[in-house]
Amino acid sequence: MSMLERAEAAERAMAEELDRTIVKSVIYVSGDPANHLMQSARLAQKSGVADKLVLACLIHDIAIAGFIRGDHGYWAAQLVEPYVDEEVAWAIRYHQALRFFPDESVGYEYPKMYIKLLGADYQPDPYIRRDYEYARNHTWYMSARLICINDLYAFDPTVQVQLEEFTDVVGRHFRQPKEGLGWDSSPSAHMWRTIMMPTKYL
Ligand SMILES: [Fe+2]
Ligand SMILES: [Fe+2]
Repeated sequence: MSMLERAEAAERAMAEELDRTIVKSVIYVSGDPANHLMQSARLAQKSGVADKLVLACLIHDIAIAGFIRGDHGYWAAQLVEPYVDEEVAWAIRYHQALRFFPDESVGYEYPKMYIKLLGADYQPDPYIRRDYEYARNHTWYMSARLICINDLYAFDPTVQVQLEEFTDVVGRHFRQPKEGLGWDSSPSAHMWRTIMMPTKYL
């Protein structure tokens, strides 16, 4: 193959790549994460959870809503870390591990949905257990636990919560960059850009 032919082949491959129809797979989005988040935040607010933790509930699954399901607590924490209180990001990171471990002292049971989805004999990965044990002994343990307590699975699809209900909470606790998410120079800006342009060629 001559150099020109190789260049043309590369060009064709690139064009094909760009033409590919993009569909969001379930690794990115499934269910109705936005509604789930808003209903969780509303429940947290009604039960008198501290204002900044209402924000934590509002965005705790933000990775599932726009990025990826696997290890969503860790990804979400990294996404929002530059813009929220350290405790909020911490609670979001550890809610993922805590969900697998009941805490009867606050009325948190192992989710029935996990038995249905993962089987009755499911064992969380060792890193989840390790992070749970770390979080269990941390000063902010209850903040992450509050996300689990207000994390609604059996949510009512007929109840529609509007984001406007939380405009003030977001305004008080989320430092929106003036350039817009993705366009500032924070350590997670590239992640927000990937959410907006997931198939950008380079
Ligand atoms: Fe979650
Ligand atoms: Fe959730």
